[in-house]
Amino acid sequence: MKGIIYNEKTKVFTLRTRNSMYQMQVRQHDTLVHLYYGADVGDMEIDYRIISLDRGFSGNPYEAGNDRTFSLDVLPQEYSGYGNGDYRINSLEVEHEDGSDAVHLRYKSHEICKGKYSLKGLPAMFGTEEEAETLKITLYDRVSGLQVHLLYGVFPELDVITRAVRMENQGEKQVTIQRAMSMEMDYPNMHMDMVHFYGRHAMERIKERLPLHHGVQSVESKRGTSSHQHNPFVILTDKTTTEKSGDCYGYALVYSGNFRCEIEVDQMNQTRFVMGIHPYHFSYRLNKGDIFETPEVIMAYSDRGFGRLSHIFHDAYRSNLIRSKYVTMPRPVLINNWEATYFEFNDEKLLNIAKEAKEIGLDMFVLDDGWFGKRDSDISGLGDWTVNENKIKEGLPALVKKIKDMGLKFGLWIEPEMVSEDSELYRRHPEWCLRIPQRNMNRSRFQLNLDITRKEVRDYIMEQIFAVMDSCDVDYIKWDMNRSVDNVYSLALPNERQGEVFHRYMLGVYEMMERLITRYPDLLFENCSGGGGRFDAGMLYYSPQIWCSDNTDAIDRLKIQYGTSFGYPISTMGAHVSVCPNHQTGRSVPFETRAVVASAGTFGYELDLEKLTPQEKELAKKQIKEYKKMEHLVQTGDYYRLTSPYSNHDYVVWQFVSKDKRETLVNGVMLRNEANPHIHILRLEGLIPDMHYQDMESGNIYTGAALMKAGVPLPPGSGDYQPVKFRFCAKNDEQ
Ligand code: GLA
Repeated sequence: MKGIIYNEKTKVFTLRTRNSMYQMQVRQHDTLVHLYYGADVGDMEIDYRIISLDRGFSGNPYEAGNDRTFSLDVLPQEYSGYGNGDYRINSLEVEHEDGSDAVHLRYKSHEICKGKYSLKGLPAMFGTEEEAETLKITLYDRVSGLQVHLLYGVFPELDVITRAVRMENQGEKQVTIQRAMSMEMDYPNMHMDMVHFYGRHAMERIKERLPLHHGVQSVESKRGTSSHQHNPFVILTDKTTTEKSGDCYGYALVYSGNFRCEIEVDQMNQTRFVMGIHPYHFSYRLNKGDIFETPEVIMAYSDRGFGRLSHIFHDAYRSNLIRSKYVTMPRPVLINNWEATYFEFNDEKLLNIAKEAKEIGLDMFVLDDGWFGKRDSDISGLGDWTVNENKIKEGLPALVKKIKDMGLKFGLWIEPEMVSEDSELYRRHPEWCLRIPQRNMNRSRFQLNLDITRKEVRDYIMEQIFAVMDSCDVDYIKWDMNRSVDNVYSLALPNERQGEVFHRYMLGVYEMMERLITRYPDLLFENCSGGGGRFDAGMLYYSPQIWCSDNTDAIDRLKIQYGTSFGYPISTMGAHVSVCPNHQTGRSVPFETRAVVASAGTFGYELDLEKLTPQEKELAKKQIKEYKKMEHLVQTGDYYRLTSPYSNHDYVVWQFVSKDKRETLVNGVMLRNEANPHIHILRLEGLIPDMHYQDMESGNIYTGAALMKAGVPLPPGSGDYQPVKFRFCAKNDEQ
């Protein structure tokens, strides 16, 4: 049976999804011990793997009496506390009023119910009573009265399990949480690799695979955002796992702020994995009766390699995390003026670009940075969300009307969390930004973080933005965030609550986004943080797409989009065709190839359309038509990474397959062209072996088996960076 089962006799909890099984057990002294996570091994309880021996220097809880074999230092646990003889990294650290910091968690009770739990003010997967079940296990610390509710959401069909923790102070005294991880996973061995996605601004989510080693290894962000530098999606994998085969486990934190993922290989070669809010500059005070909830982690197990793991995450996000109605709808193909004009434009220039956009068949004009306040460069204007009349002389409503009269939708860029020192807002309210008393502030792009923990700040900003949106019927918003959070101190919070600033900042951002999408249910909402600095599952709860990177170079994008695809659906990645030589790298790539790469995402253009040659305009028209024809594959299909940009192949190729497997699109880029070239044979995936597929270009017919096992030759081309394009449809299907 799938779902949650409790065996009263053995006190074993079993959580089952389509292909995975998870087990834990209440054992001696009411300790909640982790037993197993992995393939479904049938009607078994995996408690037999636990062998207790007397381990030197591993202490024993008092209740164990003279039993020196019972030690929390070596037992696999579900959620470990501090100060109880377990010297590994742990999940919960608190400080009590008397200055002590121990917390001894013991099982108290549990509940199983239909449907999925939710978390107050935090993004999380949602699920109906048919789709999900919730298990709540309550642990408690007898001395302080702190209750720790471990929450498990089980989605049998989607093949994922979610975890989060709710803390409740039921004691008489204050408890200050110092570290509250969202989950812990104890593996009985260390023979695994960690795959993580690191990077920098304009080069995000570079894949790295490292063997685990003894001691602690971690990925983290202390920047107040999930960050360009490390992504809160991590995979633990068997050594032999590949794209197509082998065991691996994916963990995604549904949170957009500071995070830490720590892995410790201990003295017994066991591996402990924890993930949650970064303990750096974090504390949360709970008075009697107060509650604190951690963000959620989404976990999945695959026994068929990274490809299958990605499919699980893609499907789960598309059906039960992203709430936007656009998630599987055709999105407007847009033109964004940022790389076309930067800050230098006026209404005439914008209208000219819009006119060209309409002519080539685009759907939406997006007005990026520079339309408001005194925003003529990035040194001023943030915080003043009224139109810049030096540039847009007749005002925004009139400009938007003209654009809409052309038959285009209209989108707008905002950066609500920031203020420039040179702004009306800062002159009136210098206390509204984060700043540490008596210290000089750290500047970044000349801007400061507003104190989003304050309700009056959130209200003021959102009201200004709503006024603009109401005045001109905005169809799309791009919400940007262009610096890390710093100067972390809120003048509105008492000293003892300063450890809450980072988290309250995130809760404030989520609240603002919730207000935006509730007020405008038809709005298409795109997130952005200097490109992909906040590309995480938390943001996807609010927006169905995120600007993937400020790097629009098609060749760099091969790596960026490849890395992103491990944890995130392709339809969530904003990707645009930009000009060459590329503004970030100076590289030149054929126009057609730029479109092929950008169409593996939410497609658009970001260049001065007035400067396109007549041939390029004709090509663009064709590209837009082609994208619209295959967009449903990007939105709802299965994605296969046929090659890796890190391998020594001369090409990078990927494939979309419709869920009914009747249609497939193969796209990619030939990286190098050589004299007297080799013929490269490409083998496809995910098709029905005995179905006949027709190549929509040549008309040739192939069986699925031939395409998958014998493969197709890549056409020899001339020049570097030529595009690869194949589309096959089941024979006789209407196209
Ligand atoms: C960030 C975004 C860009 C653009 C600029 C505008 O860098 O990622 O797409 O909007 O800000 O300042």
